[in-house]
Amino acid sequence: MLDSDLIRVNDLLVTVLLHTGSRWPSKGSKPTAQPVHISLAIPHDISSTARYDDLSRSINYSSLASTLRTCISPIVASQEHAFENLEQLLFRCFDLLLTPGSTSSPQLPGAQIKIVQLKPPLHCKKLAIEGEGTREPDASWKLTKIRHIVEDLECQPIIGVNPAERLERQTVRINITVETPNATWALNHWLDFRVLIRRLHEKVDATSYLTLEALASFIAIETLQHLQSSSDGSIAYNPKVNIKAAKPCALVFADSSEVEITRQFKDYQLTLSSTLASPEQSASIRSDTHSAAIAIGSNVGDRFQNIELALRLLENPLLVVKDRSIISENAFLYVVNTSFLYESAPMYVRDQPAFINCACMIETNIPPVSLLQLTQQIEVIVGRQPSFRNGPRAIDLDIVLYDALEFDTRAPEERHTLDNLSGHLVIPHPRLSEREFVLRPLVDMIPEYHHPSFQKGLLALLNELLLVTNDLPMDRVIAFPRYPLSPGTSSPLPGIDPVPPTLTYWKYADSQSIRRLQSKNKSRTRLMATLNVTPDSFSDGSTYDTIPTALAYVQQAASADIVDIGGYSTRPGAAFVSVDEEIDRVVPIVQAIRSADSAGKEGEYEENRVVRDVPISVDTFRWEVAEKAIIAGANCINDVYAFTGPQNYPYSASGANREQTTEYMRQMKSIARKYAVPAVLMHSRGDAGTNKDYSAYGYSDDAAVLEGVRVELGMKVDEIVEGKGGIRRWNVIVDPGIGFSKTVEDNLELLRQGAAITADKLIGAGPREKKNPLMGFPQLVGASRKSFLGVILSDRLGKSTNAKDRAWATAGAITCAVQQGALVVRVHDPEMSDVIAVADALWR
Ligand SMILES: *[C@@H]1O[C@H](CO)[C@@H](O)[C@H](O)[C@H]1NC(C)=O
Ligand SMILES: *[C@@H]1O[C@H](CO)[C@@H](O)[C@H](O)[C@H]1NC(C)=O
Ligand SMILES: *[C@@H]1O[C@H](CO)[C@@H](O)[C@H](O)[C@H]1NC(C)=O
Ligand SMILES: *[C@@H]1O[C@H](CO)[C@@H](O)[C@H](O)[C@H]1NC(C)=O
Ligand SMILES: *[C@@H]1O[C@H](CO)[C@@H](O)[C@H](O)[C@H]1NC(C)=O
Ligand SMILES: *[C@@H]1O[C@H](CO)[C@@H](O)[C@H](O)[C@H]1NC(C)=O
Repeated sequence: MLDSDLIRVNDLLVTVLLHTGSRWPSKGSKPTAQPVHISLAIPHDISSTARYDDLSRSINYSSLASTLRTCISPIVASQEHAFENLEQLLFRCFDLLLTPGSTSSPQLPGAQIKIVQLKPPLHCKKLAIEGEGTREPDASWKLTKIRHIVEDLECQPIIGVNPAERLERQTVRINITVETPNATWALNHWLDFRVLIRRLHEKVDATSYLTLEALASFIAIETLQHLQSSSDGSIAYNPKVNIKAAKPCALVFADSSEVEITRQFKDYQLTLSSTLASPEQSASIRSDTHSAAIAIGSNVGDRFQNIELALRLLENPLLVVKDRSIISENAFLYVVNTSFLYESAPMYVRDQPAFINCACMIETNIPPVSLLQLTQQIEVIVGRQPSFRNGPRAIDLDIVLYDALEFDTRAPEERHTLDNLSGHLVIPHPRLSEREFVLRPLVDMIPEYHHPSFQKGLLALLNELLLVTNDLPMDRVIAFPRYPLSPGTSSPLPGIDPVPPTLTYWKYADSQSIRRLQSKNKSRTRLMATLNVTPDSFSDGSTYDTIPTALAYVQQAASADIVDIGGYSTRPGAAFVSVDEEIDRVVPIVQAIRSADSAGKEGEYEENRVVRDVPISVDTFRWEVAEKAIIAGANCINDVYAFTGPQNYPYSASGANREQTTEYMRQMKSIARKYAVPAVLMHSRGDAGTNKDYSAYGYSDDAAVLEGVRVELGMKVDEIVEGKGGIRRWNVIVDPGIGFSKTVEDNLELLRQGAAITADKLIGAGPREKKNPLMGFPQLVGASRKSFLGVILSDRLGKSTNAKDRAWATAGAITCAVQQGALVVRVHDPEMSDVIAVADALWR
């Protein structure tokens, strides 16, 4: 409608009576007289008036103006025309202009009205409301646009990066525009400017951002929060908030530096509920789905078992809480993301065992207070486990965040201290910012998350905390459950699979940690000794193809940290092996190792105990084999196809053989989850001898193959770890897949730059750039005896080698893997432990 010519009346000064929004709160119920400027723009085709200069076709501005003035000015004695708020005043103006029988001689098709309040609440210069209305055929009018504006709100935060700027507050000017796309909604709701302005003024003054961008984003969140809290949670209300923030004093030769951003609810809810991302999921998401972060810690009993049990209970709220008035019949709760696992020295009370800590993100329709009751109930159940005596700290579950809620069940007079939180729910967790063991796991999942009450992202909070603490560093840990389960192991609650006890766990330094050096002593490289029970395996042929030789190998490999048993070679051209045959090869060996006993020669008892308790990984891509091997005693899955089966290339949502890869993914995930075993996930592209072209990833300075591994394996790892039914992040080890669909130079690059695969960097190009999905995962490197080593020996020395002649060449490759920070190296020759010992001494 407003494309046509416009006739304007600007800044008509009127005094009105308003109940709200005056500079000072009004006393009692008496409205306050306020000066306002009303501006009108009326669409009107001026061509005929202009052509004939005809008065009758013109709009009588003076009569328009005087109607407005008389109809809205107060008749002081009776206070007849007092308005509740600016919105009501605006609608009254539309009534006057657009309903028949009012003054305007040619009927007006519509109008734009802007009302500026000249004496707004403190700290800002002007408040305004702007609307557009059109006349309806039925003699009423319709609001088509509405916008609220705060102009030149002045605050005094600490802002800027220069040292001088960190010392003194400076003025920041802020303009805020709230656009409400659903104008119908606005007819029944009004915006409380005073409360918004006071909130912003207080909170912005307390900030100390480095950048104006971060401050603008903070203001947008605060404003959206205010709007949300006054919107009864209606999804019909989806305002757009535009923030302009300027630092007038920052630049010497320019007026000011300024940023402008526009944000909606969805821009911020994304950080917490990003599982909503995939379209097929979002269709089924119910509108009452909430995101929450839960921090978990345990320092009594089998800490890993406690944590896994707590998570399983959490995911079965109906089994845990029987009272349907607390947890209703249709309650659901999914763990959709997990952190890494950490071991930390106890805080506050030091005289107790070390804690294992982690955190998870959940999606649930359970409201906060019921969720608290659920977690308390879980603490009781886990604390009752017979493996230890009622440790009160067998498990601690803390609801740290719940959407962007601020929540406190304490009586107002108790809120000034944190002394008595027991039995209460305070969200976000009030001690969050002083607890590395809560912040660090959260940062694994939502580093940028910016809760309105923190004023900062979580990563920034963690970094600040690290600057002031002298605590021992937290180490990452990975635990291997003990299998086979002892007979009679039962589940603590019917309906939940039994949770395995822990066989052993490894500590390692988080390679991202700035305090890596302090913990270097704890971080030794682990040796995985390979035991192939394939007659055609490229490296050891049939040497170990019998139980006695296999046991002898494991005994000889006594220094190995884990033994990897495989029954199906993935060497190019290797013979097909049926599932049953693979099981027949692998399972008896696992059983033999687990039942190695003291029968035999003197002094063998201790040796056999070591053999019996060595962690075993099963090298298979088949879920049937994985499950049988675990039941028999394996503790880890090592899958060269990363849960996607042999036909996995190219791998994408619509890729070839999607049905088959999806089935592998579903089955392998469910086995890894059910048995709570770690999984080694390797990068591969179908047949190992082909698909060596990585040129599609050659868009950065980094070698294309590194980016290829990050992107391709990252996609699979995301699918395995994130969302409903994912396996725990702390149970994943990634393997760049040296020798699988890679050229000699690619293999060398993966060794040389190994750390870059899991580094904190962005991947992808342009708009698809995102965080490295492999960031922070521990790596396994398998270079042993591989053919690229043979190629190097032949090129450089003219020497042709068989796989088993490449031990020294392997040693060379391993030292590089150690130097690059690998957690595990996979080798055929157990003597490589000497190589690792020396390389560790050099670099770890
Ligand atoms: C406009 O309306 C006012 C009264 O409402 C009248 O006095 C005036 O003559 C009108 N002007 C024209 C040009 O019609
Ligand atoms: C606009 O808001 C009203 C409630 O005020 C709601 O009934 C209507 O469905 C909303 N329209 C849209 C398109 O969301
Ligand atoms: C806010 O709006 C006013 C009026 O349009 C303008 O003069 C001022 O520069 C704006 N301030 C910022 C920070 O953009
Ligand atoms: C802490 O709060 C709980 C629950 O309100 C109350 O029962 C208890 O007495 C309080 N303890 C102290 C030490 O104030
Ligand atoms: C899980 O955490 C990762 C960070 O490690 C993050 O990139 C991802 O978006 C999160 N996914 C979900 C579903 O929360
Ligand atoms: C490394 O760890 C061992 C065993 O825990 C300990 O005896 C030794 O003192 C540590 N060395 C250093 C340099 O911290």
